[in-house]
Amino acid sequence: MPGTRFTDIRRFDSVDSTNRYLLEEARAGADDGVVAVAEHQSAGRGRLGRRWEAPAGSNLLLSVLLRPPLPADQRYLASAVVALAATDAVGAVLSIELGIKWPNDLLASDGRKLAGVLAEADAVAPEPSGGLGPPIVVGIGLNVNWPASDADLPADLVGVATSLQQQMGRSVDRGEVFEALLLALEPRVGALGTVSGRTGQVQDFRARCTTIGHPVRVELADSWFEGTALDVSPEGHLVVEVDDGQRSVVAGDVVHVRRPS
Ligand code: BTN
Repeated sequence: MPGTRFTDIRRFDSVDSTNRYLLEEARAGADDGVVAVAEHQSAGRGRLGRRWEAPAGSNLLLSVLLRPPLPADQRYLASAVVALAATDAVGAVLSIELGIKWPNDLLASDGRKLAGVLAEADAVAPEPSGGLGPPIVVGIGLNVNWPASDADLPADLVGVATSLQQQMGRSVDRGEVFEALLLALEPRVGALGTVSGRTGQVQDFRARCTTIGHPVRVELADSWFEGTALDVSPEGHLVVEVDDGQRSVVAGDVVHVRRPS
C-alpha cells in the first residue's frame, strides 16, 4: 500500500494460517510491515485455541507482522490498533459504526460478531534493535460476504455471527475494505512509538470498547463470574466490578449480558 509500511503484501489462494506463516517469516528475520492475506485457510487459528473458518473467497483473512517499540506491559496495543483500524476502515467504506468487545472482537450494532483478532508472538523473541521491538503477528478475520444469511451458519453461530454483507443487505468489495484497513493502520502503528501516541490509542480503544459499562459474564478456563465491566487497565486487562470488589481479567471469554429492563 503506497505511503505505508505495508508494501510487502503476500497473497495466498490457500495457506494453513496467515498467522502461522508470518510467525515463521518473523523468525527468519522478515521486516516490520509484511502482510499475508489469503483467500482460504486450511487451519485458521482463533483465540483460546479455537479454529477460525470461512469459505474460500468470501471474507478478509489477513495478518500483519509488526515490530512496534512497545513497553512489555503495553503489548496488547498491537492487537488493539488492528481492531481500531478495522473499525476505521468499515466506517470509511460503509459508513457503519462498529463496537469492540473486549479484548478485540468487532461487533455490529446488533451485538453480533463481525471480526476477531488474534495476536501471536514467540515466547523468546530476539532482542529489539534499531528502535524496533520484538516481532508480533496480528491476524484479523473479518466477515465480509460470509455468512450471506443466517442459513449459512451452523446452529451455534446463529444470532452470534454476522457479516458486512448481512449488515448492508448487499455484497461488499473485500479489496476496498482491505486497502482502507491498511491505510488506517499505518498512523495507528506509527503512534505506538511515542508515549503521547500510545495514550491516544488507549483513549480510542476505551472509547470504542462497548464492553466498558456493560454487564458481563466472564468465562474462564474452569469457572465463570458475572459483574459490570468498569474499564480496561493500562495493561489491557478488563476490570470488572463484582459483588465484593473488583476483578481483573487477563484472558478469557466475555459475554455481553442483556441489561436488566
Ligand atoms: C478470534 O478467535 O476471534 C480470532 C480470530 C482470528 C482469525 C484470523 S484469520 C487471519 C489470521 N490467521 C489465522 O490463523 N487467524 C487469524
